[in-house]
Amino acid sequence: MGTNGSANGREKLKVLIRRGTIQKRVREVAREITRDFKGQRVHLVGVLKGACIFLSDLVREINLDSSIDFIAVSSYGKGRESSGQVRVLKDLDSNVAGLNVIVVEDILDTGLTLSYLLRILHQRKPKTLRVAALLDKPSRRVKDVKGDYIGFTIPNEFVVGYGLDFSERFRNLKDVCVLSLPPV
Ligand code: IMP
Ligand code: MG
Repeated sequence: MGTNGSANGREKLKVLIRRGTIQKRVREVAREITRDFKGQRVHLVGVLKGACIFLSDLVREINLDSSIDFIAVSSYGKGRESSGQVRVLKDLDSNVAGLNVIVVEDILDTGLTLSYLLRILHQRKPKTLRVAALLDKPSRRVKDVKGDYIGFTIPNEFVVGYGLDFSERFRNLKDVCVLSLPPV
C-alpha cells in the first residue's frame, strides 16, 4: 500500500508534504531546540496520539540530555470538527516542576487543545514551557496561542498521515496528505 492506498475508494488522498521534506524539517527543528537549550535538559511532552511519530523522530535528532512523557487529551471526538471541549484522558507520569518542558503537538488548529494544555502545565511550575508543532493551520485559530517551533504552516485543509488521523485511520502514512471525503 503506497501513500494513496485507502480502504475506501471514495476517499481521496493527495500528498501535501513529502516524507523527505518532513525528515529534513524535523532535523532543522531539532537543531533549533538543541541550540536554544545548549547545556540543559529538555523534557518532551507528546500529545497522544497524533504527535507520537513526530516526537519519535524529533527526539532522536535532539543532541541534548532529553526525556519524554505523554499526555492524552480529547477535543475532537470521532469526526473532523473540534467539539471545543478538552479533557485529559491520560495524564503525565512525570513531575515537570523545574524542567524545560516542550509540548509536542501534531497540529495547531483552533488552538483550543494547546491553550488548555499550556494552562494546566503552567500550574505545575516548569522552568520553561515551549511548544513544538509539526503543522500549523493559523487560519483556523480561535484561541490566541502560537508555537515556538513550527514544522510547516499549511492552508485550511484536513490532513492525515505522519501521526495525524481521521477516525484513527491513516496515522501510518509516511507523507502528510490532504484527505477529501465524498459529500454526505
Ligand atoms: P485544536 O484544539 O483545534 O487546535 O486541535 C488540535 C487537535 O485536533 C490536533 O492535535 C489534532 O489531533 C486534531 N486536528 C486538527 N486539525 C486536524 C487535521 O487537519 N487532521 C487531523 N487532525 C487534526
Ligand atoms: Mg487527532
